[in-house]
Amino acid sequence: MNHFLDIHLTDAKDLRKIIDHASAMKTARLGRPRGALDDDQPLKDRMVALIFEKPSTRTRVSFDVGVRQMGGQTMVLSGSDMQLGHGETIADTARVLSRYVDLIMIRTFDEAVLTEMAEYATVPVINGLTDRTHPCQIMADVMTFEEHRGPIKGKKVVWAGDGNNVCASFLHAAGQFGFDLTFTGPPTLDPEQEFVDLARAKGAKIVIERDPDKAVQGADLLVADTWVSMHDAQSARERRHNQLRPYQVNAELMSKAKPDALFMHCLPAHRDEEATSEVMDGPHSVIFDEAENRLHAQKAIMRWCLEL
Ligand code: CP
Ligand code: NVA
Repeated sequence: MNHFLDIHLTDAKDLRKIIDHASAMKTARLGRPRGALDDDQPLKDRMVALIFEKPSTRTRVSFDVGVRQMGGQTMVLSGSDMQLGHGETIADTARVLSRYVDLIMIRTFDEAVLTEMAEYATVPVINGLTDRTHPCQIMADVMTFEEHRGPIKGKKVVWAGDGNNVCASFLHAAGQFGFDLTFTGPPTLDPEQEFVDLARAKGAKIVIERDPDKAVQGADLLVADTWVSMHDAQSARERRHNQLRPYQVNAELMSKAKPDALFMHCLPAHRDEEATSEVMDGPHSVIFDEAENRLHAQKAIMRWCLEL
């Protein structure tokens, strides 16, 4: 069995296999109702626990639907309703859940919760977002880019805004898939140096450019995300907005990238804050393909975890 904890912890060949498998499974289902079972039902007789310690729309629904399409069953658990939220250790929770279910997906705050869950679980554990990373999202994003533009290797991705958890997973992916990433945002919101160093060590060109107009020159993909993440203090909201406003992805900034550049946002978005509706609903945007591909990418991730 395999855990899917982070993109840099997964072999690059396996990441490629997962994306290719996801595309093949997507194609095989074209035109079928959302609830139709996949022909091979690879998760038949399997039970999957989906634990959420933070809100979610896409992750919750795409994992749930994905398991069911593959013939498995799910239980969606809220962290605060479990003993986990009332003092039971992560290790004991992991040991107990492993007696009931075949796979655990967890969305949590502290990365240590995820790693401890993986250490003590005897079934695969999948990272459904932590304060530091969001690997399932970036697998869907790489799949989406390649659907529209072919191989992402050697392309230029520009991250505009907060160097947050989603940005970190893009940096991990830059190292593993071989694309370049330029970060443009204020210095106080830079991605952690560890993520930058890791991507550079793997040969990816990582640039920090404070001027958004310069940053987007020659970009194949522009990416934005919320300016205030779920783990950020709401009291920082006004300061962050003031700092990040110059990095909004609007039509003017988009026009300075390559003419065929794509726009991505993992959603949920605050329209007309980090990106304008004009861009989000415009011809460069592939935001809803990204959301759909969460389903396909995660189905392939679950199969890889269970070696099915
Ligand atoms: N992009 C994403 O993970 O969305 P949710 O928070 O709705 O799951
Ligand atoms: N950076 C955002 C992503 C949400 C999917 C957050 O962590 O809130």
